[in-house]
Amino acid sequence: MRVLGIETSCDETGLAVYDSERGLLAHVLHSQVALHAEYGGVVPELASRDHVRRTLPLLHRVLHAAACEPGHIDALAYTAGPGLLGALLVGGCIARSLAFAWGVPAIGVHHMEAHLLAPMLEEQRPVFPFVALLVSGGHTQLVLVERIGCYRILGESLDDAAGEAFDKVAKMLGLDYPGGPRLAELAAGGSPGRFALPRPMTTRAGLDFSFSGLKTAVGTVLRQLQSGPGGLAPGDRADLAASFQQAVIDTLVIKCRRALDVTGLRQLVLAGGVSANRELRERLRVEASTHDWEVFYPRAEFCTDNGAMIAYAGCQRLLAGEHDDLAVRALARWPMDTLAPVP
Ligand code: KG4
Ligand code: ZN
Repeated sequence: MRVLGIETSCDETGLAVYDSERGLLAHVLHSQVALHAEYGGVVPELASRDHVRRTLPLLHRVLHAAACEPGHIDALAYTAGPGLLGALLVGGCIARSLAFAWGVPAIGVHHMEAHLLAPMLEEQRPVFPFVALLVSGGHTQLVLVERIGCYRILGESLDDAAGEAFDKVAKMLGLDYPGGPRLAELAAGGSPGRFALPRPMTTRAGLDFSFSGLKTAVGTVLRQLQSGPGGLAPGDRADLAASFQQAVIDTLVIKCRRALDVTGLRQLVLAGGVSANRELRERLRVEASTHDWEVFYPRAEFCTDNGAMIAYAGCQRLLAGEHDDLAVRALARWPMDTLAPVP
């Protein structure tokens, strides 16, 4: 089965063609970073309008790159949620219309399920069941994945998501949008041990997260540095960025270890935008080799939003016989544990 995937849930327009026999044939992406940069964050209306402009030119590019005609596409998969409603509607309307015109089925895909399955696009894949750490701009969740669609949320953030904390701290440090990758770059030149920051909720039992207090702690240190004699010294921002990044990573690692202990499983999947963070990947790789478990993550370009993961996730459900009716599905909120298991 050959599936065209369309991702438009936030600030990236991503399209891909996935073939269940031959694997990923092509994927293309347009990032709206430059569009939103001057506003310091995603402007939903601008995001929607840009998806309108980009999707069809990208469709031509991805079909060309995959050496496909529309007649070679067996089904469409599009992100139906969670995400920005206007942005989701653009991808959904285009996908649904193409499917109708081409006389093929379409399916609305859960964005976080797609992130979670993104490591399946790699040669080294996990085997069900496994634990997944989903860390994106909107979600921080530890999930027990029994099989596709069978998800038990073991723990999640009670306030800010990890990516959101990266973005907000980046803004405090005067970095441009998108903050996460910029903060990681700044942190690379800093000393992670200089400032003692909390590792939230690690001293009590459980698998939930909370990053808003950590963000406040960074703000307090920053104000103290700024109001000290001479103000901010060279290197202060990099040291604070590195200390913050280390605190987030320590917290995530402690909880992952705990989730593996609780479930008795030995495979961890890392997915979502923050899983592109090199320090986090490296720390988990070292942890895995010392504690005799395995860690799987997508290549960096499939950590952040992309069409390939949507085409893959949609394909798995279509192969199991699922597809939607003619309605366009768009859900700003959509809890992952309400998804139907794939038999
Ligand atoms: O999965 P994603 O592309 O979009 C959502 O579904 O939210 O994740 C975006 C989030 C942003 O908060 C971004 O700052 C963060 O992932 N991010 C990073 C890195 N790359 C992206 N955070 C830390 N380090 C990175 N290298
Ligand atoms: Zn995402």
